[in-house]
Amino acid sequence: MELPRIEPYKIKMVEPVLFSSREDRERWIREADYNLFNLKSEQVLIDVLTDSGTGAMSQKQWAEIMLGDESYAGATSYYKLKNAISELLGFPFFLPTHQGRAAENVLFQTLLGHDAPDQVIPGNSHFDTTKGHIEFRHAKPLDITIDEAFDTTLEHPFKGNLNLVKLEAALREYGPARIPLVLVTVTCNSSGGQPVSMANLRAVSDLCKKYGVRLFFDAARFAENAYFIKVREPGFADSTIREIVREMFSYADGFTMSAKKDGIVNIGGLLAFRDEDLFKKCCTFNIIYEGYITYGGLAGRDLGALSQGLYESTEFDYLQARVGQVEYLGKRLREFGIPVQWPIGGHAVFVDAKKFFPHIPQDEFPAQLLGVELYIEAGVRAVEIGMLLADRDPVTRQERYPALELLRLAIPRRVYNQQHMEYMAVALKNLWDRRESITRGFGIVSEAPIMRHFTVRLRRL
Ligand code: F0G
Repeated sequence: MELPRIEPYKIKMVEPVLFSSREDRERWIREADYNLFNLKSEQVLIDVLTDSGTGAMSQKQWAEIMLGDESYAGATSYYKLKNAISELLGFPFFLPTHQGRAAENVLFQTLLGHDAPDQVIPGNSHFDTTKGHIEFRHAKPLDITIDEAFDTTLEHPFKGNLNLVKLEAALREYGPARIPLVLVTVTCNSSGGQPVSMANLRAVSDLCKKYGVRLFFDAARFAENAYFIKVREPGFADSTIREIVREMFSYADGFTMSAKKDGIVNIGGLLAFRDEDLFKKCCTFNIIYEGYITYGGLAGRDLGALSQGLYESTEFDYLQARVGQVEYLGKRLREFGIPVQWPIGGHAVFVDAKKFFPHIPQDEFPAQLLGVELYIEAGVRAVEIGMLLADRDPVTRQERYPALELLRLAIPRRVYNQQHMEYMAVALKNLWDRRESITRGFGIVSEAPIMRHFTVRLRRL
């Protein structure tokens, strides 16, 4: 008999969780105005709100926490991180930042300034903070993900790919004067943790070179992207993850990275460049916003843990267990007939709420409803990636109706086991079985002018 695959580690420290009753959860979520972000973590049994900063560090990473030296300038751990970035990713210049959106802030402030209404930033679906940084500066994010990504039932190995015809049309129309960079998010979180193929990265890079436009990656989940290239793209089965990572990054002029994902640290971000001039320009903003250029809002120890995390996340055995766990949950849901973004992404399972609750109109927030019901059913906290997140158009203030209305179950790295996946699958199946008895969604009581989903207050209709 073939032995089942197991995680390439064992657990040596645990964090207790508290059990609760349905009545407790009904009360807590009402008091939280039906906003899952308002729950206290102790009110949550399995927290799949995000895979960001929620991973378990290894003993070697904790050792780096002790070894990290806390010099303001030029800490030993800074040089460790510099070596890791040079060796694994191939970039000569970088800035640490306190997290991914801070790297975005420094980069976009440098490239766009405060007010850049004529600037356009094409890419596959930008993450919400990225979109926020672009729109906050009155520039325009352009989503040119391939159409296949927006049909959750369609089988496609690389639903994060960019539509090259649309990219070339944008490059031709706006050119380098109006496109400061093309941004490719690997894996593409907003389309369901979907990877971008090496062939697509290469072609995007060729187009960018042809039109003289910079190419940056949003590299939060670069290692998971490399894993998918290895297992899905012809020609890469025999390459190591690190070889694939090196080739991926060879196509980019720079990257932003939330290190809280594939860096497997609890806090941290990166901004890297090939171009020394751009690096120097960004240094000024890094110092103003983040901290000196060799620590950027982090402690020396954080830099050491991150350098070690980059090595660990680019190991095949780790990635196979990691992505395999997410896939296990997705497959269980599919076996129950529950509609999920298919194929399953690298870091999360995305349940298609439009198909789960076809009788609930999108402006009653069906994905949020599914999230709240899942919490009440089982104490599981997932997150809405739908109309609340899509927010209003910043100019017209009209509601935006995104093509996808999803509930995301983002799995923290090295934290939960297969029984936790099973528990979540059964919880969703119970809801699936009684989905027709759930008939109304939510209305908005109050919302912030930007990024409303974090603080929105809702009421049941
Ligand atoms: N880019 C991507 C693709 C992300 O997924 C995130 C964060 C960021 C940038 C911003 O990074 O949080 O370190 O400032 N995503 C988290 C999530 C929050 O839950 O998907 P950050």
